[in-house]
Amino acid sequence: MTKLAILYYSSTGHGTTMAAELEKAAQAAGAEVRVRHIAETRDPATFAENPAWTANYEATKDLPAATGDDIVWADGVIFGSPTRFGSVASPFQTFFDSLGGLWAQGKLADKAYAAFTSSQTAHGGQETTIVNLYTSLMHFGGILVPPGYTDGLKFVDGNPYGVGHVTGPDNQNELDDATRAALGHLATRVVTIAGKLAQ
Ligand SMILES: Cc1cc2nc3c(=O)[nH]c(=O)nc-3n(C[C@H](O)[C@H](O)[C@H](O)COP(=O)(O)O)c2cc1C
Repeated sequence: MTKLAILYYSSTGHGTTMAAELEKAAQAAGAEVRVRHIAETRDPATFAENPAWTANYEATKDLPAATGDDIVWADGVIFGSPTRFGSVASPFQTFFDSLGGLWAQGKLADKAYAAFTSSQTAHGGQETTIVNLYTSLMHFGGILVPPGYTDGLKFVDGNPYGVGHVTGPDNQNELDDATRAALGHLATRVVTIAGKLAQ
């Protein structure tokens, strides 16, 4: 079975929802899937006034957190981070910064990689977040598997770089049908290409 890891950071839960959607689609595509959240780096007291952040923290804090070994295990990895000032969130970057030893051994190379994000606004930096993330994946020697416009549904969500969800002015938009379809397409595509690379 092709092994897919979905490794993501999420503060207020949108990334967690997107990861679950990817997991469902990857399992339907026949993959063995490992979903891991990237651990929170902030003291929960500092976001106690934010109910969505606290709820997501409580729901995930006792689940196994992402480690470099999850990447080594996988044939393909889909990473996720919220957009913060047009790039990845600091806990996500902290996780990437912990990967130097595996990188030096070449253990991050030759795998299929793609990414997803969310932002409050439609033009708030989703594409730059994904492209910034892909820069690190090139340093890994990874095989980038962006969705492009490889299916008609990509002309509906409109993001050839990966998948992005717009969470809205109050940060509460649920996933719409176009984004769900795009997540399903990305998961299936990464599983397919990762499977070919692993042969
Ligand atoms: C420090 C910070 C910076 C942010 N920067 C942006 C931004 O540049 N553009 C944008 O549209 N939303 C921005 N947001 C909103 C987040 O992208 C949005 O809340 C995110 O989709 C939440 O994902 P999550 O629920 O997985 O944490 C920012 C939020 C924070 C806390």
